[in-house]
Amino acid sequence: MTASTRYRHLFTPLRLGPVVVRNRIVFSAHLTNYAEDGLPTGQHAAYYEARARGGAGLIITEEHSTHPTDWPYEKLIHGFAPVVIPGYRRITEAVHRHRTPIFAQINHNGGQGSSMYSRLPVWAASAVADPLFREVPKEVDRREIAEIVAGYATVAAHCKEGGFDGIELQCSHSSIVRGFLSPAVNMRSDEYGGGLPNRARLLLDLVAAVREAIGGDLALGVRLCGDELIEGGTTIVDAIEVARLVEAQGLTDYINTSIGVATQSLFMIEASMAVPPGYARFIPSALRKAVDLPVIGVGRFKDPRQADRALVEGHCDLVGVVRGQIADADFAAKARAGMADDVRLCLSCNQECVGRMGLNRWLGCIENPRTGHEALLPAGPAMRPRKVVVVGGGPAGMQAATTAARRGHQVVLLEREAQTGGQARVAATVPSRAEFGDIVRNLLHECRRSGVEIRTGVTADVDAVLAERADAVVVATGAEPARPAWAPAAAGHVVDVRDVLETRAAPSGRVVVVDELGFHQATSVAELLADRGCRVTVVTPGMVVGQDLGITLDMEHWEVKAAAKGIGQKTDLVPMGLGHGTVQLLHHPTGVMVEEPCDWVVLAVPPRPLEQLYLDLVAQGGIEVHRAGDCIAPRRAHAAIIEGHRVAELL
Ligand SMILES: Cc1cc2nc3c(=O)[nH]c(=O)nc-3n(C[C@H](O)[C@H](O)[C@H](O)COP(=O)(O)O)c2cc1C
Ligand code: SF4
Repeated sequence: MTASTRYRHLFTPLRLGPVVVRNRIVFSAHLTNYAEDGLPTGQHAAYYEARARGGAGLIITEEHSTHPTDWPYEKLIHGFAPVVIPGYRRITEAVHRHRTPIFAQINHNGGQGSSMYSRLPVWAASAVADPLFREVPKEVDRREIAEIVAGYATVAAHCKEGGFDGIELQCSHSSIVRGFLSPAVNMRSDEYGGGLPNRARLLLDLVAAVREAIGGDLALGVRLCGDELIEGGTTIVDAIEVARLVEAQGLTDYINTSIGVATQSLFMIEASMAVPPGYARFIPSALRKAVDLPVIGVGRFKDPRQADRALVEGHCDLVGVVRGQIADADFAAKARAGMADDVRLCLSCNQECVGRMGLNRWLGCIENPRTGHEALLPAGPAMRPRKVVVVGGGPAGMQAATTAARRGHQVVLLEREAQTGGQARVAATVPSRAEFGDIVRNLLHECRRSGVEIRTGVTADVDAVLAERADAVVVATGAEPARPAWAPAAAGHVVDVRDVLETRAAPSGRVVVVDELGFHQATSVAELLADRGCRVTVVTPGMVVGQDLGITLDMEHWEVKAAAKGIGQKTDLVPMGLGHGTVQLLHHPTGVMVEEPCDWVVLAVPPRPLEQLYLDLVAQGGIEVHRAGDCIAPRRAHAAIIEGHRVAELL
C-alpha cells in the first residue's frame, strides 16, 4: 500500500468557506508564551513556519486578546493594539511560504482571569468567581457587551490586515463566550441569560460583527466546548444546539471542538497519557451528525494512524494534532511520505509544553530540543566528521548519538544493559505510564535511522573506551539510587523505587513510600504496590504528595486512583530515622515527631550522579571528553535530551 492510499482521508483537501486546506491535519490553537510585551515575535513566526514546512494542513495560532480587560497571563498577544500588525505579517508570510493557510484565534477570557496584569476589573457574564483565579468579576452591562463585540471586530480587522486567512472564535474552554453559554456561571436574567438562545446571543453577535469586519475572503470558525465536565455546566446536548444556531446564522465556515473548562477540568483539555487517545471524539462525532459545517476533532490523536481512523470512522472532518506536532514538526510530511514510523510520537507527558505554560515559561517539548528554538539556526554538518563514542544508552546518550550522527560523525553507542532506554524504560513499566516508553522507541528509531552503531551489554571502562580509538567521547552514564543519611544502607527492608521497578525487591505488607522528588516516582510505585496487595502510605515533606503532578495535569488522576486503591497520603513530614518497624517523621510546621508503622520503606529520594567514568577519562587525558544528563546532575528527562543534543552540536 502506498502512502497516499494508506492515509487517503488524511490527505484529501477540504474547503472551509473561502479557504481550501490541502490535508486534514490541523495545528490547533495553543498558547506558547513566545509573546513579548503583548506582541508576536520572530520565534512565533519560526515556530509556526516549522509546522507549515512540516506539512500541516491548517495552522490556528494561539489566542489574541480582544480587550484590555483580558490579560490572564503575562505573555498574551494584545490583538487589540494595532502595533501587533507587523508581527502578524511576519507570521503569516512565514507560513504562507509553504502554501499553508493560517487562522488567528481571537478571544476574551472573561472571568477566567485576574486583574493581576491588567489592573482592571475582570469582565464576565455574571459575578461568579472562577475557582482557579478566585477573583470576583464585574458582570458586564449592555454598554460593556457592545464594547466587547467592537473589540472582537477590531482584532479581526487587525488579523485581516496582518495577512491571516481566517479567524477562530474561542468559545470553548476559557472565554467570556463560554461564560455566557454555560448555565454553571451565567446567572443573568436579561436577554443574555436564561434559555440557550439567550445565552448564545453574545456568540452570535460576535460572529456577525467579526464577519462584517473580515468580509467574505477570510474563513470564520467557532470553537465550542462539547462538555464542560463540571456540575451544572454545558453538555453535548447544549453544544449541539449552539452548533445548530451557529449554522443557521449562515456566517461561519467550520466548527472546532474542545472538552473541559480551563480551570476546573483543565486536565481533560490537554489530557495526559492517563487518558486514552482520541478520548474526546464523541464531541465532533455528535456535532457532525447535527450540522453540515465541517467539524474539527481534537484530543490525543498522536499518530497518523489514529488521526486517519478518526476521519474514516466519521468522527470528524479535520483532526487537531497539537502536541503531536509540538513534538514533531514534520508529523504531516512524514505521514504523507509513508514514514509514519519515523514520527517522534508525543508522550502526552505534558512536562515541557503544558507544564512550562503553568510556570510562565516559553513552550518546549521534552523530546524535541528544537521546540521553542526554531528561530535559532541549528548546528549544521560537522566541519570535520570524526569518530564519537557515546557511553550510556539512556535519553541523554541516545540524543547525543543521533544528533552527532546526523551531523556526519561516525557514532558508536555503548550501553551496559541488554536494552537501551535507561531510566525512561523503567519509568514506563508502571500503571498508566506505558506511553512514556515512546521516548525510548523514538530515540532508538532516530539512532538507527541516523546510522548510530548500538552495542548493548557492554560495560565501558576507561580501557574499553580508549580501545575504540575515538576522537571524542560523550559520557551519559546516568545516576544511581542514593541512601539518605537517615536510612543507612545496612537497614533492612529499605529500598529504592528502582529496586522495586527493576524487580530486585518485592515489598509486602505495610509499605511507607517516601516522596522527596514530588513527581511520578513515588506515586507510580505506590500504585504498583497497592495493586500487589500492599497497604501503602506515601509521606512527603511537601504540601502535597507528587507536587509537580499539578503542572502536568496528572494530579487529578493520581488522587482518583489513590482513593480507589486505598493509598494513604501524609504531608509536611520530614523523615528523620528508622525505628522498630516504623519511620520516624518530623511534622515540620509544628515540630512534633510522629512514627509511621511499616514493614518496608520505599525511597523516592534524590539519586547520585554516576560520574566516575567521566572523571577517569578526564584524568587519563589525551582524549576529548564531554558529559551530558544525569551523570552531571540527576534531573528529569528533558534536561538529558537537551544536554545530549547540546553536547553533540559542539562536536
Ligand atoms: C500548551 C497548550 C496550550 C493550549 N492553549 C490553548 C489555547 O490558547 N486555546 C485553545 O483553544 N486551546 C488551547 N490548547 C488546547 C489544544 O488546542 C488542544 O485542544 C489540546 O492540546 C488537545 O489536543 P492534543 O492532544 O492534540 O494536544 C492548548 C494546548 C496545549 C498543549
Ligand atoms: S512535552 Fe510531552 S506532552 Fe508535550 S509535546 Fe512534548 S512529548 Fe508531547
